[in-house]
Amino acid sequence: MQKKTLGSKPFVYPMPASIVGADVDKKPNFMTIAYCGVVNNGPAMVAIGSNPKHHTMNGIKENNTFSVNIPSEELVEKTDFVGTYSGKNIDKSEVFEVFYGKLKTAPLIKECPINMECKVVKMMDLGGSDTIVIGEVVESYCAKEHMTNGQPDITKFKPLLYTTGDKKYWGIGKFCGDAWNIGNNYKIKKD
Ligand SMILES: Cc1cc2nc3c(=O)[nH]c(=O)nc-3n(C[C@H](O)[C@H](O)[C@H](O)COP(=O)(O)O)c2cc1C
Repeated sequence: MQKKTLGSKPFVYPMPASIVGADVDKKPNFMTIAYCGVVNNGPAMVAIGSNPKHHTMNGIKENNTFSVNIPSEELVEKTDFVGTYSGKNIDKSEVFEVFYGKLKTAPLIKECPINMECKVVKMMDLGGSDTIVIGEVVESYCAKEHMTNGQPDITKFKPLLYTTGDKKYWGIGKFCGDAWNIGNNYKIKKD
């Protein structure tokens, strides 16, 4: 495999095309966030990397709460819309049907199959373009029809993915094996 250098790029592929929500001045606002990931298992924590100038960030700072919503493939247009236009200029509060959970100030999106409501644990500025917001997941939600054996089933809700280099949205691919299991088929080579 011949390699070509591409510079300092965050190619942790694929990225979720997540939608982060916050109440700004008591009104729900949403932005698309590809820089989103799991950072702690117990308690569950997720982190987002966001430009501090985004309107949604004002709401996160205001309430110390936010939501992370995972859209399915069919929400591609709305996902792109809330990632293209700022709540500073247009009202995005009616793009999605909203519900609230335990935190009361983290707007959750009804049509997204997975939702997490988070309280801010830490905000960090690393001196670059983005602020890291770490949130503890206080509650998570999944539509019943999108679960198998009590767990979210990505073949049922088809999460929307994103690749940052070519700026494209994708669906999921094929099933490749059971985790903590299929690795047992591998045999270490002996001399
Ligand atoms: C596919 C996609 C991914 C994005 N990912 C991020 C991201 O990870 N971090 C970020 O700060 N902005 C990201 N954005 C940009 C914001 O979603 C966008 O600037 C949005 O309009 C901000 O909305 P707001 O000002 O209403 O909060 C992304 C946009 C798109 C379309």
